[in-house]
Amino acid sequence: MPMPLAVLVSGGGSNLQSILDKIDAGLVDAEVRVVLSNKAEAYGLTRARQRNIPALALPHTAFATRQDFDAEMVRLIHAHGVDATTGAIALAGFMRMLTPEFLRAFPHRVVNIHPALLPSFPGTHGAADAASYGVRLAGCSVHFVDEIMDHGPVIIQAAVPALPSDWEEGGGEALAARILKLEHCIYPQALAWLAKGRLKVQDRHVLVAPPPRRIAAAPPCPAWRAPPWSRASSPPEHKAWQAAPKFRAFLADCPLNWSWRGAGATPRSSGPAGLIQKGVRHGAFPAFPNANG
Ligand code: GAR
Repeated sequence: MPMPLAVLVSGGGSNLQSILDKIDAGLVDAEVRVVLSNKAEAYGLTRARQRNIPALALPHTAFATRQDFDAEMVRLIHAHGVDATTGAIALAGFMRMLTPEFLRAFPHRVVNIHPALLPSFPGTHGAADAASYGVRLAGCSVHFVDEIMDHGPVIIQAAVPALPSDWEEGGGEALAARILKLEHCIYPQALAWLAKGRLKVQDRHVLVAPPPRRIAAAPPCPAWRAPPWSRASSPPEHKAWQAAPKFRAFLADCPLNWSWRGAGATPRSSGPAGLIQKGVRHGAFPAFPNANG
């Protein structure tokens, strides 16, 4: 069964869109059951409605306390068939802290995307803060949510060089736009892992289990084969052996020259699984990326 998913948004919902697109493409085994927003005007709600996904505005100002607001969200999420055992909650530009009561309702099932390389630049303006700080490398992080803002165990990160033009007044917007494109790659990837039960949290570390081994369909009875046995006469099941790994498709719309490091590599055993820039040795991000001159 696809993983039931609730998505929480406060704004444009481009991350929601990328999740929906990757679900449609068969790359994330999940089903968005409900989209909730604390802002009635959030365009993310419109995106959901265009696909006939239940989309509910829940203005937080209408609730006396944070606890009341979160309790209503938990009720609605459960009512749409998303529970702590099989379901998950994806924060996609949701600009409110969740209460401990909310998190206790879905332990290790709430994930968030943040436009900075955590633990640097948490908060509501991650990309702009990184730009005004003058970083040379910026990026984004998907992490499990805990009770501290932008703090829980990191699942996946992607990096992008910051340019001197990003450091100028207002340059944060250009950097944020480049980061957003990477967000659209790594968030669906993290959710795909979660949906397949491949993520395990050990203290602050998230281990990514290798994908289950592909078991090819049993070859047909020899009596049915067209002799002589050859590639040209292979039955369709054997195409499974030739299929490119699905995760490559996540990279198709990535803006940079990214490649994938080690399917199934775990952070502890053999370095972090994740996106790396082609031509750059793993673990050695360039101190002075070419883009910076
Ligand atoms: C994204 O950049 C996301 O990382 C950020 O809000 C934007 C939402 O864009 N989230 C945070 O800053 C959370 N601290 P979207 O509505 O187009 O998906």
